[in-house]
Amino acid sequence: MDAPAPGRILEPVNPDPDDIPSNPTSGPSIGALIAQRISRREALQGIAATVVVAALPGPVAGTARARRRGQPTSLSFVELENAIPSGHACAPDHRADVLLRWGDKVLGDAPPFDPRHHTAAAQARQFGYNNDFIAYLPLPAGSRSSERGLLCVNHEYTNTHLMWPGRDGVVIEGTQLDAEQVATDMAAHGHSIVEVERRDGRWTVRDRSPFNRRLTAETVMKMTGPAAGHPRLQTTADPSGRKVRGTINNCAGGVTPWGTVLIAEENFQHYFTGDPRKTPEARNHLRYGLGRPSCNWGEFHDRFDVEKEPNEPNRFGWVVEYDPYDPFSVPVKRTALGRLKHEGATVVVNRDGRAVVYTGDDQRFDYVYRFVSSRIVDPTSRDANRELLDEGTLSVARFDADGTCRWLPLVFGTGPLTPENGFESQADLLIETRRAADLLGATKMDRPEDVETSPVTGLVYVVLTNNTKRAPNQADAANPRGPNPSGHILELIPPAGDAEGRDHTAPSYRWEVFLKAGNPSKADSGAAYHPATSKNGWFHAPDNCAFDNLGRLWIATDQGAGQLATGVPDGLRVTDTEGSGRALTKLFFTCPIGAELCGPCFTPDGETLFVSVQHPGEGAHPDGRARSTFDHPSTRWPDNDDAIPPRPAVVAITRIGRGAIGGDAGKHS
Ligand code: FEO
Ligand code: CA
Ligand code: CA
Ligand code: CA
Repeated sequence: MDAPAPGRILEPVNPDPDDIPSNPTSGPSIGALIAQRISRREALQGIAATVVVAALPGPVAGTARARRRGQPTSLSFVELENAIPSGHACAPDHRADVLLRWGDKVLGDAPPFDPRHHTAAAQARQFGYNNDFIAYLPLPAGSRSSERGLLCVNHEYTNTHLMWPGRDGVVIEGTQLDAEQVATDMAAHGHSIVEVERRDGRWTVRDRSPFNRRLTAETVMKMTGPAAGHPRLQTTADPSGRKVRGTINNCAGGVTPWGTVLIAEENFQHYFTGDPRKTPEARNHLRYGLGRPSCNWGEFHDRFDVEKEPNEPNRFGWVVEYDPYDPFSVPVKRTALGRLKHEGATVVVNRDGRAVVYTGDDQRFDYVYRFVSSRIVDPTSRDANRELLDEGTLSVARFDADGTCRWLPLVFGTGPLTPENGFESQADLLIETRRAADLLGATKMDRPEDVETSPVTGLVYVVLTNNTKRAPNQADAANPRGPNPSGHILELIPPAGDAEGRDHTAPSYRWEVFLKAGNPSKADSGAAYHPATSKNGWFHAPDNCAFDNLGRLWIATDQGAGQLATGVPDGLRVTDTEGSGRALTKLFFTCPIGAELCGPCFTPDGETLFVSVQHPGEGAHPDGRARSTFDHPSTRWPDNDDAIPPRPAVVAITRIGRGAIGGDAGKHS
């Protein structure tokens, strides 16, 4: 192919960028080689996976009891209809209030939102676009207040067709922006920190709070850990390899026990123009999918042109840690956690005190990872934990058909991770985490999204959103359907050695398929839920998730462009993970057309649930237009004003009369 001009788009980006696998390793993984298309519990029950399991127990325990009871679930709310609403909808007996919209003030001196006159200066002081992960950090620091706290919210990406007027004819989202629009686009990315307060039952934003802050694609950050300072992280602007500007495509994240926030950099490859094959980093960049940009930042900023700054992409794809309680703190990219398309970063303190971080690499045929810190968490001092995530062991998961999950350490000098394979140091290995994991024979998964741990049982749930590219002969025990358009959820079972909890540092776990998503009434879907799951409770494309205090798993969905075709709304379903309601999912919240749900986050008392409604109005228009735009949007949620385009927004959900969100009829453990 001819060399592209700087800023030129090589080829149109797929509407669902995660649809393009970039794992070139051939053939099945080692896990698949020994896998059979039959899951462990199914094997125990003698149910072959080729049998339609929708009406059978499948992965579900306690079903005989469930049939005898009218209401096997602990979730007592009345579920919604499985249909896309005109606005948003929430289960009865709850209220769902829009709290923060794109363009709302974050800093007190921000100008009011003006949908036809965005500027970079205004956007850098306003709430960014496409809110995703939400963390709630109580105020004052160290308290468990559920009435006052900091909302820490990621802004994953932008929908420029919905942000700017006059873009009906632009084919590729994010391109053909002028310099000021690019600067505004960069300011719409990143993260927001805002103080919120619950008064008289209603949540409000305190836009004059000294804690309020924006992080953008320009905010100066540090890089630490084994890869910091390596020549492959050095650029013209930063010969030290330790100082980087900005964080981008922040998807999900996590909260540490010492009160810092982790935000994950996911699809960073979209932001780099130029031909990666013309750089010394070609093999590395192609493994991360560079060469299919979806914006033209590189036209105005050399660092986003890979031919001019071939190392700049190596400075993205990390987990960023920052202190929300210090508005002047410098965020830190922790290289020890690996470089990949991190969906999130969920932290658990192991029973021996070490911090464990689970993270998925969200692309078809990529992997699930675990980091274990070398040192233990000091519960008496925040400062003592500042560098905790800089030293430890990163591993990648291999799922075997006998129900074992083995964690394969990514350690320089061991196995194939040597100079013969192009790794000269641990820094090299972390910069090319994916290629190192390929060499270890990790199991290629169906888009690993969120990973969460139950606060009640200590079991770990890995959400796999879908994989339409998996061929039937590529199915394995942990990814049992090829193709897999609807996704599934795995349950990982760390060993329980003693009364102090499960061992999240163990070299191997057991695992199960928890549920298989899809329409259970379709004989060929292979879907598997609790048999009492209603026609409203099933779903496609599980993505982000969260546990409440009672150990119920709340599952947000993202069908992307598939939503219009299925007619099934994206939103929030919830299930018990134990007892008679295990895998009985119920529909709690639905998004407006075009939107996915992200960021479910509870206050410590479990009485408020914050959710992110991301990209309302994205995708095709039901009137037949190929794309919904600022001028012809498919929805004007949440303002419903003809002068205002759709706006991504955070919604605060509370229960009328207070109490646990979703109700509590017992039976959850
Ligand atoms: Fe940003 Fe994988 O969803
Ligand atoms: Ca996600
Ligand atoms: Ca989550
Ligand atoms: Ca998503």
